[in-house]
Amino acid sequence: MRVLLTGANGFVGSHILDRLCAGGCAVSALLRGTSRTNFIAEHLPHVEVRQGSLSDPDSLERALQGVDCVIHCAGKTKVVHTPEYYEVNEAGTRNLVRAVSKVQGGVKHFIHISSLAANHPAGPASPALESDTPQPVSEYGKSKLRAEEAVRESCRAPFTILRPAAVYGPRDTDFLSVFQSVRWHVAPLIGGGRMPFSLIYAGDVAEAVVACIENPVAYGKTYHLASPEPSNAREFMREAAAAMNVRTLPIPVPAAALYPLCLAQELLARVTGKPGILTRQKLVELKAGGWVCSVEAIRRDLHFAAAAPLQEGIARTVDWYEQNGWI
Ligand SMILES: NC(=O)c1ccc[n+]([C@@H]2O[C@H](COP(=O)([O-])OP(=O)(O)OC[C@H]3O[C@@H](n4cnc5c(N)ncnc54)[C@H](OP(=O)(O)O)[C@@H]3O)[C@@H](O)[C@H]2O)c1
Repeated sequence: MRVLLTGANGFVGSHILDRLCAGGCAVSALLRGTSRTNFIAEHLPHVEVRQGSLSDPDSLERALQGVDCVIHCAGKTKVVHTPEYYEVNEAGTRNLVRAVSKVQGGVKHFIHISSLAANHPAGPASPALESDTPQPVSEYGKSKLRAEEAVRESCRAPFTILRPAAVYGPRDTDFLSVFQSVRWHVAPLIGGGRMPFSLIYAGDVAEAVVACIENPVAYGKTYHLASPEPSNAREFMREAAAAMNVRTLPIPVPAAALYPLCLAQELLARVTGKPGILTRQKLVELKAGGWVCSVEAIRRDLHFAAAAPLQEGIARTVDWYEQNGWI
């Protein structure tokens, strides 16, 4: 079986690639000429690179030749200009799904990496279910929902949609600033740091993908991916501090106070062309009250449960950041 993995060189995709390679799977990685390959360098001798872009339908048709399973992990999680979310996440997914439908021989399974952001905010008393009517609050979430719709409407191959909660782990640049703050003995607690949210360790996302591959039980299904227990920023930083063996000073930051900082980061992004993490859109997600999801469906259907406890996932992440000089 040959798998085409899009986004193979990114944070989440590189963990999926690690897992596929460890399992001896024949993998083709869809990369662009400009794609950095530092996260996946060790695999390049064994992985077939297929050049292509989600915005170039012909390149996608070429990349799909002889492919049995597609794992679509490419996407934009942060942008300089909002339309980029829709160009890559929605239109790019439509292009890929169309190409899948045209390919000779037929792709047997299309696994689409979506996001919990495509569903809706929820607290632990009533976690979001896959069967809920999605009500994304951010442009990112809306673009991921439209990508899901493209898959459901147009994918001729059996498909599975996976919606990971916030993903952390080695190579992640989004939670990195949290670890850096803790390293500097500061624990900034936005809105008090008690907003409950689901999380998943990157290695567990990869395990879930493998549990789905060519598993007919998963065909046509949408699954949340998260650790069974939600967390919050206080707990996350406490575990990070313990893993680094440092003490931190908790600093409560009212969410509204971040607004000028978000504006400044957005302006800087326009100048440098590099998207920042802290944006007004991110603030909307941070003020949503909670991002807790049920993981009962994937446990029931595929007997899958994220294995890494928060303490262990954070310890592994800290190890990697330290070994690579990121903190
Ligand atoms: N990180 C999270 O917490 C999280 C949570 C839930 C869901 N997800 C989903 O997981 C996926 C990967 O996210 P990530 O955090 O790993 O992001 P990432 O590190 O920024 O990786 C994004 C990947 O997408 C590729 N890509 C972007 N535009 C492309 C295009 N036009 N054509 C082909 N490839 C393109 C990038 O390739 P280049 O290097 O060439 O740009 C890169 O490989 C996304 O779909 C995201 O929505 C992430």
